[in-house]
Amino acid sequence: MVYLVTGAKGQLGQAVVALLKQQGKQVCAFSRDQLDIGDYGQLAEVFAEHQPKIVFNCAAYTQVDRAESESEIAHRVNAQGPKYLAQLCTQYDAFLCHFSTDYVFNGKAFLPYEENAVPSPLGVYGQTKRQGEAAVEISQARYAILRTAWVYGLVGKNFVKTILRLAQERETLRIVEDQIGTPTWTGDLAEVALALAEGQTENGIYHVTNSGVASWYDFAVAICEEATHLGWDLRVKEIISISTAEYPTPAERPSYSVLSRRKVEEKLGHKMTHWRVALRQMLKALWESEH
Ligand SMILES: NC(=O)c1ccc[n+]([C@@H]2O[C@H](COP(=O)([O-])OP(=O)(O)OC[C@H]3O[C@@H](n4cnc5c(N)ncnc54)[C@H](OP(=O)(O)O)[C@@H]3O)[C@@H](O)[C@H]2O)c1
Repeated sequence: MVYLVTGAKGQLGQAVVALLKQQGKQVCAFSRDQLDIGDYGQLAEVFAEHQPKIVFNCAAYTQVDRAESESEIAHRVNAQGPKYLAQLCTQYDAFLCHFSTDYVFNGKAFLPYEENAVPSPLGVYGQTKRQGEAAVEISQARYAILRTAWVYGLVGKNFVKTILRLAQERETLRIVEDQIGTPTWTGDLAEVALALAEGQTENGIYHVTNSGVASWYDFAVAICEEATHLGWDLRVKEIISISTAEYPTPAERPSYSVLSRRKVEEKLGHKMTHWRVALRQMLKALWESEH
């Protein structure tokens, strides 16, 4: 049985491919250069040649701020691409595992968002991701949409690696404290995605993050504490919490985007790992790969 992975060079794509290979699955993995999901012709050729039975769509336009000025490209990748994939999955009777984001919500809630909460994205990235979800939902494909949040992996650009670098360069960091969410490790996300894809899962949306909540400030402090404990020689002496207003960005972010994990945890029969434990595991793996 062939497993197709799009966006295979992204943070999540690499984790999914590594997991599938580790389990001895037959993997067809395509990076953006090899397969553009906004191009129906390219997708149709790949489906015809490889006849995949499970498809992990890890491709996405993820530049949250740049999307504000590149809405056409963001729409092409985040909305049009999933629509094409859902059409082809229907045609080939393949299961589509698609990924979406906490940024489909406006962050005005104060309790974790359930899957049926009404989306109301604040920016272009969230809007186009919601359009992609909708295209999958109205298709005839068998699918699971995994909404996740604050993703970091061993490879690629992410908050953990940025903070690690800055903490080695600077004595002071200023980090936003009034945005609350849940950091999520690609290793854990990939495992849940595979379990759902192989588990005769009912069509629908699943919220999948590590457990617990944090602000970006909490997350940065934890990264520095765990890294110091593992042996990194950090220069940072002070981490100052600031407000979103003090760090303006082109795209507005939700101030609270915690996702309820109740549905997925019931489905899996176990709790998700706490974000701090997952962070420790990721940093340990990073340390070992670098030393
Ligand atoms: N990162 C987060 O914090 C976060 C949070 C919530 C949800 N998510 C969702 O989680 C999923 C995985 O995100 P990630 O963090 O792994 O993102 P990522 O590291 O940016 O990976 C996305 C990959 O998709 C590729 N790509 C872009 N346009 C493409 C196209 N037209 N055709 C094929 N591939 C294309 C990118 O290639 P280039 O690098 O060459 O552009 C990149 O390799 C996405 O659905 C994202 O929306 C992410």
